[in-house]
Amino acid sequence: MKMRLSRSIIGSEEAKAVSRVLLEDGYLGMGTETKRFEEDLAAFFEVEPEQVISTNSGTAALHLACDAVCAQANTSGIPEILVPSLTFVASYQAITAAGCKPVSCDVLLETGTLDLQDAKSRITENTVAILFVDYASNPWKLSDVYAFAKEHHLRVIEDAAHAFGCRHHGQRIGSFGDLVCFSFDGIKNITAGEGGCLVSFDPVATQLASDARLLSVSGDTAKRFAGARSWDADVARQGWRYHMSNIMAAIGRVQLRRFPKEFLPKRMLRSSVYNQRLCTQKHVALFQTDPEDFICPHIQVIRVLDGHKEHVRHVLEEHGIPTGLHYKPNHLHSFFGGGAVHLPNVEQLYTEILTLPLHPALSCQDIEEICGIIKKTLDTL
Ligand SMILES: Cc1ncc(COP(=O)(O)O)c(C=O)c1O
Repeated sequence: MKMRLSRSIIGSEEAKAVSRVLLEDGYLGMGTETKRFEEDLAAFFEVEPEQVISTNSGTAALHLACDAVCAQANTSGIPEILVPSLTFVASYQAITAAGCKPVSCDVLLETGTLDLQDAKSRITENTVAILFVDYASNPWKLSDVYAFAKEHHLRVIEDAAHAFGCRHHGQRIGSFGDLVCFSFDGIKNITAGEGGCLVSFDPVATQLASDARLLSVSGDTAKRFAGARSWDADVARQGWRYHMSNIMAAIGRVQLRRFPKEFLPKRMLRSSVYNQRLCTQKHVALFQTDPEDFICPHIQVIRVLDGHKEHVRHVLEEHGIPTGLHYKPNHLHSFFGGGAVHLPNVEQLYTEILTLPLHPALSCQDIEEICGIIKKTLDTL
């Protein structure tokens, strides 16, 4: 392939920050650098540092959020979480890992985000939460999701893995809500190598998740940030080893500094070139966004209509251009029901969605070339 679908953008600043931790600090685990990263993230989200719980993956952040919701739930049966089927399998695995049941919901054809009407029809007495995914960085009608959750007495877990740096109606994702989860894996809008964080607006969940990421050794976060250990602390519930290391935090801090002036405008520019070139393309539909939302695109997904997706994918591949699939619908996986429910929109999108290369190192000329190939392929059909 002559270009990459996605990639990390790491430079000498990140390398210097990591060697500082490796060579000077002498402590590689969760310590001062992790604390500073949480403080930097808190400043970015305009929340208190205690509300930001860094983790070693976005999946871990989602698991901690589901666990905190589950721990506070009062249901007679297995707690159920409404989740759009069009998401990374991590959203589902986090739900089952927390002992809850994922209830697959359909999405809107126009956006790929959760269809609230469909979600409503799946509420039972065991439903405890709604897991909203900002699919392709789109916080579509997020305030309606919160209103819906309030009406039905549900918690909201946001899978904002795609939405770092986005805003909904002026408010930054992660600056408001209930439980908001980010991923800092290698190809996200910022990376910490791997990693993630939970931003919690519920003090009980904050305490539960903060301990649970450190094997539920009570109060261990404060001890580690003070350079001490919890030799004699109690463990009162299940926990996991999900904390972020100083090495990862060192990368994340540099990435966060580079984000506003470098990664954000580069991603936006590249996505806007795609959108301009493809918005009138025959047999192509772009996902709708709200002009009042601000989007920092993580992936560039288009819909190729009328059964032409495989052909386009094949032609792009012949030209050395990789494509992706975000995602195989989760309700079709054998572990999550193997298609026991029928979700028409998700299943239609599965046949249409094609992810095109997007990352800050891609040139606008590359994008012109990709769009040119798509145009030539589809116009001549
Ligand atoms: C929508 C979504 N949810 C969750 C995750 C999980 O994040 P991580 O890979 O950091 O565990 C990802 C990462 O790709 C994602 O795209």
